[in-house]
Amino acid sequence: MNASSASYSRITGTGSYLPPHRVDNNELAARLAADGIQTSDEWIIERTGIRARHFVEPGVQTSEIAVRAAQHALEAAGRKPEEIDLVLLATSTPDMVFPSTACIVQRKLGIHGGAAFDVQAVCTGFVYALAVADSMIRTGLATRALVIGAEVFSRILDFKDRTTCVLFGDGAGAVVLEASDRPGILASELHADGRHVDILCVPGQVAAGAVTGDPFVRMDGQAVFKLAVGVLDSVSRSVLVKAGREAQGIDWMIPHQANIRIMHSAARRLGVPLERLVVTVHEHGNTSAASIPLALDEGVRSGRVGPGQSVLLQGVGGGFTWGAVLLDF
Ligand code: UT7
Repeated sequence: MNASSASYSRITGTGSYLPPHRVDNNELAARLAADGIQTSDEWIIERTGIRARHFVEPGVQTSEIAVRAAQHALEAAGRKPEEIDLVLLATSTPDMVFPSTACIVQRKLGIHGGAAFDVQAVCTGFVYALAVADSMIRTGLATRALVIGAEVFSRILDFKDRTTCVLFGDGAGAVVLEASDRPGILASELHADGRHVDILCVPGQVAAGAVTGDPFVRMDGQAVFKLAVGVLDSVSRSVLVKAGREAQGIDWMIPHQANIRIMHSAARRLGVPLERLVVTVHEHGNTSAASIPLALDEGVRSGRVGPGQSVLLQGVGGGFTWGAVLLDF
Protein backbone atom coordinates (compact mmCIF):
# COMPACT_ATOMS: atom_id res chain seq x y z
CA MET A 1 0.00 0.00 0.00
CA ASN A 2 0.99 3.58 -0.60
CA ALA A 3 2.32 5.43 2.43
CA SER A 4 1.47 8.98 1.31
CA SER A 5 -1.89 10.45 2.24
CA ALA A 6 -4.19 12.31 -0.16
CA SER A 7 -6.36 15.30 0.65
CA TYR A 8 -9.50 13.70 -0.70
CA SER A 9 -11.04 10.66 -2.30
CA ARG A 10 -13.45 10.69 -5.20
CA ILE A 11 -15.58 8.24 -7.16
CA THR A 12 -14.14 7.64 -10.62
CA GLY A 13 -16.45 4.86 -11.83
CA THR A 14 -19.67 3.08 -10.92
CA GLY A 15 -21.07 -0.32 -11.87
CA SER A 16 -23.84 -2.70 -10.96
CA TYR A 17 -25.30 -6.09 -11.69
CA LEU A 18 -28.80 -7.50 -11.33
CA PRO A 19 -29.50 -11.21 -11.76
CA PRO A 20 -31.53 -11.74 -14.96
CA HIS A 21 -34.52 -13.38 -13.23
CA ARG A 22 -37.01 -10.54 -12.61
CA VAL A 23 -39.88 -11.57 -10.35
CA ASP A 24 -42.83 -9.21 -10.41
CA ASN A 25 -45.35 -8.96 -7.58
CA ASN A 26 -47.92 -11.13 -9.36
CA GLU A 27 -45.41 -13.93 -9.93
CA LEU A 28 -44.32 -13.76 -6.28
CA ALA A 29 -47.93 -13.67 -5.04
CA ALA A 30 -48.73 -16.78 -7.12
CA ARG A 31 -45.70 -18.56 -5.67
CA LEU A 32 -46.77 -17.69 -2.10
CA ALA A 33 -50.40 -18.64 -2.79
CA ALA A 34 -49.25 -22.16 -3.62
CA ASP A 35 -48.20 -22.38 0.07
CA GLY A 36 -51.42 -20.79 1.31
CA ILE A 37 -49.83 -17.33 1.91
CA GLN A 38 -51.94 -14.39 0.72
CA THR A 39 -50.48 -11.18 -0.70
CA SER A 40 -51.16 -9.00 -3.72
CA ASP A 41 -49.57 -6.65 -6.22
CA GLU A 42 -51.84 -3.89 -4.86
CA TRP A 43 -50.76 -4.34 -1.22
CA ILE A 44 -47.07 -4.46 -2.05
CA ILE A 45 -47.17 -1.39 -4.33
CA GLU A 46 -49.31 0.66 -1.95
CA ARG A 47 -47.23 -0.08 1.18
CA THR A 48 -43.74 -0.14 -0.37
CA GLY A 49 -43.67 1.06 -3.99
CA ILE A 50 -42.11 -2.25 -5.02
CA ARG A 51 -43.30 -3.74 -8.34
CA ALA A 52 -40.56 -6.31 -8.92
CA ARG A 53 -37.27 -7.66 -7.61
CA HIS A 54 -34.52 -9.86 -9.05
CA PHE A 55 -33.53 -13.24 -7.62
CA VAL A 56 -30.39 -15.24 -8.41
CA GLU A 57 -30.67 -18.82 -9.60
CA PRO A 58 -30.13 -21.35 -6.79
CA GLY A 59 -26.46 -21.71 -5.91
CA VAL A 60 -25.31 -18.31 -7.21
CA GLN A 61 -23.10 -16.69 -4.56
CA THR A 62 -22.71 -13.08 -3.47
CA SER A 63 -19.09 -13.02 -4.73
CA GLU A 64 -20.24 -13.85 -8.27
CA ILE A 65 -22.60 -10.89 -8.56
CA ALA A 66 -20.15 -8.64 -6.66
CA VAL A 67 -17.46 -9.42 -9.25
CA ARG A 68 -19.79 -8.48 -12.14
CA ALA A 69 -20.62 -5.11 -10.53
CA ALA A 70 -16.94 -4.50 -9.73
CA GLN A 71 -15.91 -5.25 -13.34
CA HIS A 72 -18.42 -2.68 -14.61
CA ALA A 73 -17.13 -0.08 -12.11
CA LEU A 74 -13.49 -0.78 -13.09
CA GLU A 75 -14.40 -0.41 -16.76
CA ALA A 76 -16.16 2.91 -16.08
CA ALA A 77 -13.13 4.17 -14.13
CA GLY A 78 -10.70 2.98 -16.83
CA ARG A 79 -8.83 0.95 -14.21
CA LYS A 80 -7.39 -2.55 -14.18
CA PRO A 81 -7.85 -4.92 -11.24
CA GLU A 82 -4.12 -4.80 -10.44
CA GLU A 83 -4.39 -1.05 -9.81
CA ILE A 84 -6.71 -1.68 -6.82
CA ASP A 85 -5.16 -1.83 -3.33
CA LEU A 86 -8.33 -2.08 -1.23
CA VAL A 87 -11.47 -4.21 -1.66
CA LEU A 88 -14.28 -3.38 0.75
CA LEU A 89 -17.42 -5.45 0.42
CA ALA A 90 -20.60 -4.61 2.31
CA THR A 91 -22.81 -7.66 2.70
CA SER A 92 -25.00 -9.56 5.14
CA THR A 93 -25.02 -12.62 2.89
CA PRO A 94 -21.36 -13.65 2.67
CA ASP A 95 -20.38 -16.74 0.66
CA MET A 96 -18.93 -18.42 3.75
CA VAL A 97 -18.59 -17.87 7.49
CA PHE A 98 -14.98 -17.02 6.67
CA PRO A 99 -12.85 -15.92 4.88
CA SER A 100 -14.44 -12.65 3.91
CA THR A 101 -16.32 -12.46 0.63
CA ALA A 102 -14.05 -9.47 -0.16
CA CYS A 103 -11.09 -11.88 -0.28
CA ILE A 104 -13.03 -14.22 -2.59
CA VAL A 105 -13.87 -11.27 -4.87
CA GLN A 106 -10.25 -10.17 -4.76
CA ARG A 107 -9.16 -13.62 -5.95
CA LYS A 108 -11.82 -13.80 -8.69
CA LEU A 109 -10.76 -10.38 -10.01
CA GLY A 110 -7.07 -11.35 -9.98
CA ILE A 111 -6.07 -8.69 -7.45
CA HIS A 112 -3.11 -9.72 -5.32
CA GLY A 113 -2.04 -7.65 -2.36
CA GLY A 114 -3.56 -4.63 -0.70
CA ALA A 115 -6.29 -5.08 1.89
CA ALA A 116 -9.67 -6.80 1.54
CA PHE A 117 -12.40 -7.17 4.11
CA ASP A 118 -16.17 -7.30 4.54
CA VAL A 119 -18.21 -4.62 6.22
CA GLN A 120 -21.28 -5.79 8.11
CA ALA A 121 -23.75 -3.00 8.74
CA VAL A 122 -26.73 -4.61 6.97
CA CYS A 123 -28.55 -2.06 4.78
CA THR A 124 -26.20 0.75 5.91
CA GLY A 125 -23.23 -1.36 4.79
CA PHE A 126 -22.36 0.53 1.63
CA VAL A 127 -22.40 3.91 3.38
CA TYR A 128 -20.19 2.45 6.13
CA ALA A 129 -17.81 0.93 3.57
CA LEU A 130 -17.57 4.13 1.53
CA ALA A 131 -16.80 6.20 4.64
CA VAL A 132 -14.15 3.67 5.77
CA ALA A 133 -12.54 3.59 2.30
CA ASP A 134 -12.50 7.41 2.21
CA SER A 135 -10.77 7.51 5.63
CA MET A 136 -8.23 4.88 4.59
CA ILE A 137 -7.40 6.78 1.41
CA ARG A 138 -7.07 10.11 3.19
CA THR A 139 -4.77 8.61 5.83
CA GLY A 140 -2.56 6.85 3.26
CA LEU A 141 -3.61 3.26 4.00
CA ALA A 142 -4.89 2.86 0.43
CA THR A 143 -4.87 4.77 -2.85
CA ARG A 144 -7.50 3.13 -5.04
CA ALA A 145 -10.42 1.17 -3.63
CA LEU A 146 -13.19 -0.99 -4.93
CA VAL A 147 -16.19 -0.42 -2.67
CA ILE A 148 -18.95 -2.92 -3.27
CA GLY A 149 -22.40 -3.67 -1.86
CA ALA A 150 -23.65 -7.14 -2.83
CA GLU A 151 -26.42 -9.35 -1.50
CA VAL A 152 -28.15 -12.64 -2.17
CA PHE A 153 -30.95 -11.88 0.26
CA SER A 154 -33.26 -14.46 -1.34
CA ARG A 155 -31.16 -17.06 0.51
CA ILE A 156 -32.31 -15.79 3.93
CA LEU A 157 -35.95 -15.01 3.12
CA ASP A 158 -38.71 -17.05 4.71
CA PHE A 159 -41.20 -17.42 1.86
CA LYS A 160 -43.85 -18.31 4.41
CA ASP A 161 -43.53 -14.86 6.06
CA ARG A 162 -45.34 -12.37 3.84
CA THR A 163 -44.31 -9.43 6.04
CA THR A 164 -40.68 -9.78 4.90
CA CYS A 165 -40.34 -11.96 1.78
CA VAL A 166 -42.10 -9.50 -0.54
CA LEU A 167 -39.68 -6.71 0.35
CA PHE A 168 -36.20 -7.91 -0.58
CA GLY A 169 -34.21 -8.74 -3.72
CA ASP A 170 -30.72 -9.71 -4.89
CA GLY A 171 -28.15 -7.49 -6.63
CA ALA A 172 -24.79 -5.77 -6.48
CA GLY A 173 -23.36 -2.30 -6.99
CA ALA A 174 -19.81 -0.97 -6.86
CA VAL A 175 -17.69 2.14 -7.14
CA VAL A 176 -14.01 2.82 -7.67
CA LEU A 177 -12.85 5.38 -5.10
CA GLU A 178 -9.47 7.02 -5.72
CA ALA A 179 -7.10 9.40 -3.97
CA SER A 180 -7.50 12.88 -5.39
CA ASP A 181 -6.46 16.49 -4.89
CA ARG A 182 -9.99 17.58 -5.76
CA PRO A 183 -12.79 17.10 -3.22
CA GLY A 184 -15.09 14.17 -3.94
CA ILE A 185 -16.38 12.89 -0.64
CA LEU A 186 -17.15 16.02 1.35
CA ALA A 187 -18.49 14.67 4.65
CA SER A 188 -19.59 11.37 6.18
CA GLU A 189 -21.24 10.31 9.38
CA LEU A 190 -21.90 6.83 10.76
CA HIS A 191 -24.08 5.74 13.68
CA ALA A 192 -25.27 2.60 15.45
CA ASP A 193 -27.58 1.91 18.37
CA GLY A 194 -27.41 -1.73 19.46
CA ARG A 195 -30.45 -1.36 21.72
CA HIS A 196 -32.47 -2.09 18.57
CA VAL A 197 -30.68 -5.29 17.52
CA ASP A 198 -33.91 -7.30 17.69
CA ILE A 199 -36.12 -5.25 15.37
CA LEU A 200 -34.28 -6.41 12.23
CA CYS A 201 -32.13 -9.52 12.37
CA VAL A 202 -31.33 -13.04 11.18
CA PRO A 203 -30.93 -14.65 14.59
CA GLY A 204 -29.56 -18.05 13.54
CA GLN A 205 -25.94 -19.18 13.66
CA VAL A 206 -23.72 -22.04 12.54
CA ALA A 207 -22.84 -24.13 15.59
CA ALA A 208 -21.77 -27.69 16.22
CA GLY A 209 -22.04 -28.57 12.54
CA ALA A 210 -25.57 -27.26 11.99
CA VAL A 211 -27.60 -24.07 11.68
CA THR A 212 -29.08 -23.39 15.07
CA GLY A 213 -31.86 -20.92 15.77
CA ASP A 214 -33.82 -19.06 13.13
CA PRO A 215 -31.88 -18.53 9.89
CA PHE A 216 -34.39 -16.14 8.26
CA VAL A 217 -34.85 -12.35 8.15
CA ARG A 218 -37.15 -11.18 10.95
CA MET A 219 -38.33 -7.59 11.13
CA ASP A 220 -40.64 -5.40 13.15
CA GLY A 221 -41.51 -3.31 10.10
CA GLN A 222 -43.29 -0.50 11.88
CA ALA A 223 -40.51 -0.02 14.45
CA VAL A 224 -37.92 0.08 11.66
CA PHE A 225 -40.07 2.50 9.67
CA LYS A 226 -40.40 4.97 12.55
CA LEU A 227 -36.72 4.90 13.46
CA ALA A 228 -35.63 5.18 9.81
CA VAL A 229 -37.55 8.38 9.09
CA GLY A 230 -36.07 10.19 12.10
CA VAL A 231 -32.44 9.11 11.77
CA LEU A 232 -32.23 9.71 8.01
CA ASP A 233 -33.26 13.29 8.61
CA SER A 234 -30.86 13.97 11.50
CA VAL A 235 -27.82 12.34 9.89
CA SER A 236 -28.43 14.15 6.59
CA ARG A 237 -28.63 17.54 8.31
CA SER A 238 -25.46 16.69 10.16
CA VAL A 239 -23.36 15.90 7.05
CA LEU A 240 -24.69 19.01 5.32
CA VAL A 241 -23.53 21.16 8.25
CA LYS A 242 -20.13 19.40 8.28
CA ALA A 243 -19.70 20.12 4.56
CA GLY A 244 -21.04 23.69 4.82
CA ARG A 245 -23.77 22.93 2.26
CA GLU A 246 -27.55 23.49 2.14
CA ALA A 247 -30.18 20.83 1.41
CA GLN A 248 -31.48 23.06 -1.42
CA GLY A 249 -28.13 22.66 -3.20
CA ILE A 250 -28.28 18.85 -3.37
CA ASP A 251 -28.57 17.69 -6.98
CA TRP A 252 -29.40 14.06 -6.17
CA MET A 253 -30.52 12.29 -3.03
CA ILE A 254 -29.98 8.52 -2.98
CA PRO A 255 -31.45 6.95 0.13
CA HIS A 256 -31.40 3.25 0.94
CA GLN A 257 -34.12 1.78 -1.24
CA ALA A 258 -36.44 0.00 1.18
CA ASN A 259 -39.79 1.72 0.92
CA ILE A 260 -40.90 4.62 -1.28
CA ARG A 261 -42.88 6.05 1.66
CA ILE A 262 -39.72 6.31 3.81
CA MET A 263 -37.80 7.86 0.89
CA HIS A 264 -40.47 10.47 0.17
CA SER A 265 -40.75 11.31 3.83
CA ALA A 266 -36.97 11.73 4.16
CA ALA A 267 -36.87 14.04 1.12
CA ARG A 268 -39.84 16.13 2.29
CA ARG A 269 -38.42 16.57 5.79
CA LEU A 270 -35.13 17.75 4.35
CA GLY A 271 -36.84 20.01 1.81
CA VAL A 272 -35.44 18.20 -1.23
CA PRO A 273 -37.89 18.05 -4.19
CA LEU A 274 -39.01 14.48 -4.97
CA GLU A 275 -37.72 14.84 -8.56
CA ARG A 276 -34.19 14.85 -7.11
CA LEU A 277 -34.58 11.37 -5.62
CA VAL A 278 -33.03 8.48 -7.52
CA VAL A 279 -35.59 5.70 -7.12
CA THR A 280 -34.96 2.06 -7.97
CA VAL A 281 -36.98 0.36 -5.22
CA HIS A 282 -39.90 -0.19 -7.61
CA GLU A 283 -37.75 -2.44 -9.84
CA HIS A 284 -35.13 -3.80 -7.39
CA GLY A 285 -36.98 -4.16 -4.08
CA ASN A 286 -34.77 -3.78 -1.03
CA THR A 287 -31.33 -5.16 -1.91
CA SER A 288 -29.86 -4.21 1.50
CA ALA A 289 -26.19 -3.14 1.19
CA ALA A 290 -26.45 -3.20 -2.62
CA SER A 291 -29.35 -0.78 -2.88
CA ILE A 292 -27.43 2.52 -2.77
CA PRO A 293 -24.63 1.64 -5.22
CA LEU A 294 -27.23 0.06 -7.54
CA ALA A 295 -29.26 3.27 -7.48
CA LEU A 296 -26.14 5.42 -7.90
CA ASP A 297 -25.09 3.42 -10.96
CA GLU A 298 -28.61 3.63 -12.37
CA GLY A 299 -28.49 7.42 -11.86
CA VAL A 300 -25.13 7.66 -13.64
CA ARG A 301 -25.97 5.34 -16.53
CA SER A 302 -29.34 7.01 -17.15
CA GLY A 303 -27.45 10.31 -17.57
CA ARG A 304 -28.95 11.98 -14.51
CA VAL A 305 -26.01 11.90 -12.08
CA GLY A 306 -22.97 13.51 -13.70
CA PRO A 307 -19.69 15.37 -13.13
CA GLY A 308 -19.86 18.36 -10.79
CA GLN A 309 -23.15 17.34 -9.20
CA SER A 310 -23.63 16.86 -5.49
CA VAL A 311 -25.09 13.61 -4.22
CA LEU A 312 -26.37 12.72 -0.75
CA LEU A 313 -26.28 8.99 0.09
CA GLN A 314 -28.35 7.90 3.09
CA GLY A 315 -28.23 4.44 4.66
CA VAL A 316 -30.32 2.85 7.38
CA GLY A 317 -30.77 -0.73 8.54
CA GLY A 318 -30.26 -3.53 11.01
CA GLY A 319 -28.11 -2.99 14.05
CA PHE A 320 -29.71 -0.44 14.26
CA THR A 321 -27.30 1.41 11.95
CA TRP A 322 -27.51 4.57 9.91
CA GLY A 323 -25.24 6.99 8.13
CA ALA A 324 -24.84 9.46 5.29
CA VAL A 325 -22.18 10.53 2.81
CA LEU A 326 -22.28 13.84 0.93
CA LEU A 327 -20.11 13.94 -2.20
CA ASP A 328 -19.38 15.88 -5.34
CA PHE A 329 -19.46 13.54 -8.27
O1 UT7 B 1 -33.81 -2.46 4.91
C1 UT7 B 1 -33.93 -2.08 6.23
C2 UT7 B 1 -34.95 -1.09 6.38
N1 UT7 B 1 -36.26 -1.71 6.33
C3 UT7 B 1 -37.30 -0.95 6.17
O2 UT7 B 1 -37.13 0.23 5.98
C4 UT7 B 1 -38.69 -1.53 6.31
C5 UT7 B 1 -39.52 -0.58 7.12
N2 UT7 B 1 -40.92 -0.97 7.24
C6 UT7 B 1 -41.77 -0.94 6.20
O3 UT7 B 1 -41.38 -0.66 5.08
C7 UT7 B 1 -43.22 -1.23 6.47
O4 UT7 B 1 -43.46 -1.27 7.86
C8 UT7 B 1 -43.71 -2.57 5.84
C9 UT7 B 1 -43.74 -2.43 4.32
C10 UT7 B 1 -42.80 -3.70 6.25
C11 UT7 B 1 -45.13 -2.88 6.29
O5 UT7 B 1 -45.98 -1.80 5.97
P1 UT7 B 1 -46.99 -1.24 7.07
O6 UT7 B 1 -47.76 -0.18 6.43
O7 UT7 B 1 -46.18 -0.89 8.29
O8 UT7 B 1 -47.94 -2.48 7.32
P2 UT7 B 1 -48.27 -3.23 8.68
O9 UT7 B 1 -47.08 -3.97 9.17
O10 UT7 B 1 -48.93 -2.23 9.59
O11 UT7 B 1 -49.35 -4.27 8.21
C12 UT7 B 1 -50.65 -3.83 7.77
C13 UT7 B 1 -51.47 -5.06 7.42
C14 UT7 B 1 -51.45 -6.12 8.50
O12 UT7 B 1 -52.75 -6.71 8.56
P3 UT7 B 1 -53.77 -6.29 9.72
O13 UT7 B 1 -53.09 -6.61 11.01
O14 UT7 B 1 -53.99 -4.82 9.53
O15 UT7 B 1 -54.97 -7.12 9.43
C15 UT7 B 1 -50.49 -7.16 7.96
O16 UT7 B 1 -50.76 -8.46 8.42
O17 UT7 B 1 -50.96 -5.67 6.24
C16 UT7 B 1 -50.77 -7.08 6.48
N3 UT7 B 1 -49.65 -7.52 5.65
C17 UT7 B 1 -49.79 -7.92 4.38
N4 UT7 B 1 -50.88 -8.04 3.59
C18 UT7 B 1 -50.67 -8.47 2.32
C19 UT7 B 1 -48.33 -7.57 5.99
N5 UT7 B 1 -47.62 -8.02 4.94
C20 UT7 B 1 -48.50 -8.24 3.93
C21 UT7 B 1 -48.36 -8.68 2.60
N6 UT7 B 1 -49.47 -8.77 1.85
N7 UT7 B 1 -47.16 -8.99 2.07
